[in-house]
Amino acid sequence: MKDVREEYHAEGLTEASLHNDPLEQARRWVDEAIEAGLPLPNAMTLATVSAQGQPSSRVVLLKGIEGGGFTFFTHYDSRKGEEIAANPKVSFTMFWQPFDRQMIVIGEAHKVDPEESESYFASRPYASQVSAAISPQSQPTSREWLEEEVARLEKEFPSAPVPRPEQWGGYRITPSEIQFWHGRPSRLHDRFRYRRQADGQWKRERLAP
Ligand SMILES: Cc1cc2nc3c(=O)[nH]c(=O)nc-3n(C[C@H](O)[C@H](O)[C@H](O)COP(=O)(O)O)c2cc1C
Repeated sequence: MKDVREEYHAEGLTEASLHNDPLEQARRWVDEAIEAGLPLPNAMTLATVSAQGQPSSRVVLLKGIEGGGFTFFTHYDSRKGEEIAANPKVSFTMFWQPFDRQMIVIGEAHKVDPEESESYFASRPYASQVSAAISPQSQPTSREWLEEEVARLEKEFPSAPVPRPEQWGGYRITPSEIQFWHGRPSRLHDRFRYRRQADGQWKRERLAP
């Protein structure tokens, strides 16, 4: 790994090219990744922190930028759900190749309204509804038990809609800080950080790479 050296050729980020609202800038980058057909353009690595101060992270999928935040869906009883319940402060990172772009968001995660979770759950494919409904996410289990539970639920609900379990739903991450990183030649990368001020306005500054 020490010998893997990637040169970044991108033209980079300028003050003038950035949107004043970092949520709109985030939308631009996600949209460009989707339009370019990049694999998993909405994958984000989400870090949460336990009540004891131990961070943990995992990949989830960004499902919307709306209501002043970033939305993803999961199981509320999972490890991440329990950690968010104890401490809503989270951070997530998205990395897009070959764009040499990284976005880092710091903020707080709070559950979305049950109606919003309901509507998204109902829009998912039948098989995903079944898997989400039977899975006690993050608990020790066996493949055999999971497959038996799928078969049981498929018998009970042979087609969509499958009822949404109460412990499955969305979180919206309201950012206090968003950073846009763009790889440049010779490691002289561009970094811009937006921080929300007490009056609600965003302050933007360039950071050293
Ligand atoms: C590409 C990818 C997308 C994923 N999307 C989600 C997701 O949207 N929601 C989710 O709960 N888990 C998703 N997962 C699974 C999580 O990474 C993780 O295993 C799961 O949420 C349990 O995490 P936890 O035990 O830390 O709470 C995804 C995994 C990958 C690799």
